[in-house]
Amino acid sequence: MTPTFAEKIAGAPKAELHIHIEGSLEPELIFKLAERNGVALAYSSIEALRAAYAFTDLQSFLDIYYAGASVLLNEDDFYDMTAAYVERALADGVVHTEIFFDPQTHTERGVPIETVVAGIERALAEGERRGLSSKLILCFLRHLSEDDALATYSAALPLFDTYAHRLIGVGLDSSERGHPPSKFERVFAQARERGLKLVAHAGEEGPPSYIYEALDLLLVDRIDHGVRSIEDPALVTRLADTRVALTVCPLSNLKLRVFDDMKRHTLKALLDRGVAVTINSDDPAYFGGYVNANYLAAVEALGVTDRDVYTLIRNSFEAAFVTPRELDAFIAKLDAYWKP
Ligand code: HPA
Ligand code: ZN
Repeated sequence: MTPTFAEKIAGAPKAELHIHIEGSLEPELIFKLAERNGVALAYSSIEALRAAYAFTDLQSFLDIYYAGASVLLNEDDFYDMTAAYVERALADGVVHTEIFFDPQTHTERGVPIETVVAGIERALAEGERRGLSSKLILCFLRHLSEDDALATYSAALPLFDTYAHRLIGVGLDSSERGHPPSKFERVFAQARERGLKLVAHAGEEGPPSYIYEALDLLLVDRIDHGVRSIEDPALVTRLADTRVALTVCPLSNLKLRVFDDMKRHTLKALLDRGVAVTINSDDPAYFGGYVNANYLAAVEALGVTDRDVYTLIRNSFEAAFVTPRELDAFIAKLDAYWKP
């Protein structure tokens, strides 16, 4: 039997470029780790926690997301969380993933950054042996000060050596409004000097001017979300011409009410204008699905075609932080699978 379009998408080799590992923490694992570590939660049951996932905007989500991450204390906790994501990614046909983590969420609670990275790394090394290539990107929390980001960056410096094969870049996440990229110019300049890859969340809830700042002041290689770029035609043209990719997360945008209806999502319009759009899951445990569910949501609501999906997947590889050789191998794998 010929596979359905959904089955074809599900089985396709793809890259995921925007996934916060703390956002892959499922309620069941949150409760398991809370019990293991003796951490008190403000929710009486898994169902009560899940029922609280009724977000009205980015901040309403972040409040619960940081509460969920409070159960992560030991290296094994970070390992278990990442190992669970590795399973989901492999099941979704992901062959390459670039994972964000938020060290400040953990160091603030007294968890050493070395513990965080060691646990994540152990699971990613296992994933690598099972065919999941992966990189790690350290994100600064933008609601905290730049001095805090600079201190975090300094503390992480030895890790950029020890884990040079994995830890390849820095990013910027958390509450966007009122925390423009310009606030982090100095720390991004230091990371750039070191040759690290640079990304930033911009234009999720924030205005197009934040995307310009990320491009012109931070000199990022990719924009995370960027869906509000559509409000500025000159910016869309610039993104298309320069092929600076957007890591778009449709289910996240719906749950956090960036769009009130998936039919109003700007992903297809940006793709049609030649922007290097990619599809990703953001915080899959909180937003109702892993990467394939995000592709399907876009297909169902936006009339994304067979050729569009090929382009989206191809974009995911072309925007990945991999060597030209690795890229060629990924594209060959995709082309062997997908004949548009
Ligand atoms: N936006 C900003 N910060 C985040 C997100 C997001 O979607 N997910 C986790 N941290
Ligand atoms: Zn994100």
